Amino acid sequence: MTVYFIGAGPGDPELITVKGQRLIRSCPVILYAGSLVPTAVLEGHSAEQVINSAELHLEQIIAHLVQAHSRGLHVARVHSGDPSLYGAIGEQIRELRVRDIPFEIIPGVTATAACAALLESELTLPKVSQTLILTRYSGRADMPDGEQLRDLARHRATMAIHLGVSHIARIVEELLPHYGPDCPIAVVHRASWPDQDWVKGRLADIEELVRAKGYRRTALIVVGEVLDPGDFSDAALYRASHAHLYRSNS
Ligand SMILES: C[S@@+](CC[C@H](N)C(=O)[O-])C[C@H]1O[C@@H](n2cnc3c(N)ncnc32)[C@H](O)[C@@H]1O
Repeated sequence: MTVYFIGAGPGDPELITVKGQRLIRSCPVILYAGSLVPTAVLEGHSAEQVINSAELHLEQIIAHLVQAHSRGLHVARVHSGDPSLYGAIGEQIRELRVRDIPFEIIPGVTATAACAALLESELTLPKVSQTLILTRYSGRADMPDGEQLRDLARHRATMAIHLGVSHIARIVEELLPHYGPDCPIAVVHRASWPDQDWVKGRLADIEELVRAKGYRRTALIVVGEVLDPGDFSDAALYRASHAHLYRSNS
């Protein structure tokens, strides 16, 4: 018996891995994070038990996993996007390890990738930004020292900010001194869902644009010059003068 932590992808049921879908269709027990995972992702399952974990707390989730283990039943534990990002799998893994319950993690398409696709953007352009910071907004004290937005903003790298759209005013305030008012920024709401939507602007006007759209939840904020880079140089990878292991100079 194994607990499979499966990345469901950002919403579109076709954006799950083949392996993740196969496991969902074959596991007799499914626990899915129903706040962000659409039931369409579970289509074709033959499970005897399907549980929405959005209504449960950690102890109740672990109790389901332990029960399945004692019955020798595989579990598909389905999380949104990629489970390694803000998925709260760390504490589940800790509990499974204590109980010697085997588990495996199946990666998924993270929201940032889905948003970049929608925005038709490469997030890492030569000489513009070669770094992507994935972070979240938190007004609470649970951000570690040195990871407040104003600290991260000093790098002026491309940044994807999760869980922050309802705090857009505060976020703009922290980014402005480093990125400047003209820096492009996009807010993508429910990327890859049927009602997906997005808005693009500059740091100076994004707060107003987001307010007009009325986004409150499930939106990703992407900021950085890569969203409107103007003229930028080609990456060395496909440059004719650049030889490498798979291609000689031409
Ligand atoms: C708890 S985190 C889960 C992230 C997920 N594990 C991932 O890899 O994308 C939830 C946050 O991710 C972002 N998010 C998740 N799915 C999204 C989507 N389809 N479109 C835009 N943002 C999304 C939002 O910021 C949302 O508040």
